[in-house]
Amino acid sequence: MLTQHAPRLWTYEEPLRFLSFEIGRIMTVIRLSSGELVVQSPAELTPALESALSALGDVRYVVPASKLHGHLYMEQYRAAFPAVELLAAPGLEARRTDLTFDGLLGDVPDPRWAADVDQVAVSGHRWLTELAFFHRSSRTLILGDVGYHVGSSAPLKTRLMARLAGVHGRISPPRDFRLTVANEATFRRSIRDVLAWDFDRVIPGHGEIVETGGKRAVLDGFDWLLQSAGDVDGDGGTRT
Ligand SMILES: [Fe+2]
Repeated sequence: MLTQHAPRLWTYEEPLRFLSFEIGRIMTVIRLSSGELVVQSPAELTPALESALSALGDVRYVVPASKLHGHLYMEQYRAAFPAVELLAAPGLEARRTDLTFDGLLGDVPDPRWAADVDQVAVSGHRWLTELAFFHRSSRTLILGDVGYHVGSSAPLKTRLMARLAGVHGRISPPRDFRLTVANEATFRRSIRDVLAWDFDRVIPGHGEIVETGGKRAVLDGFDWLLQSAGDVDGDGGTRT
């Protein structure tokens, strides 16, 4: 039931309907060099998924994409895997007061996974307090709502909606998320930090995985941000 993309990388896709459109959602599983598993954007933990994960290794870290995306089923993982650590995205602790988190994710990767996984805390957006992850050995970028990608395999109705939302054939947040950027320069710096990674595959939060050519798909999807006024030199400014 898990799809393997690289020696230590799997995904699990489950259906999700949004405003009657089928957009799906994607969970990612990384096996660290230590053998422990990181589960990003956890799916509902059915008995079948639980046994599939147990067959891969020790489920040790469960991380959301953001305070909006990928935290719904975290409590099921704590119940099933007693040694698991649940880690919060910025702002999630206030939303999930029913959970006790073992740590808060930021820009610095946890030393226990830094050799395998890097991360960027995407800043400058009102809602998308998102963690973007980079799995080094498979050259994979992992996103949540920062990266929707509806491809050619989606139902016609979804593809039409995706065209309107600007997320068809490219990786981008939908237009409504583009309108809620709080600090454009900061948001642009975060996206440039993401683009600095040497990734080829992209696992979006919703839609279709891009197995190759992912960097071009992100550059296309963020042309509205990267080429906007105020960044005419294209260097995105200096990170401070
Ligand atoms: Fe989402």
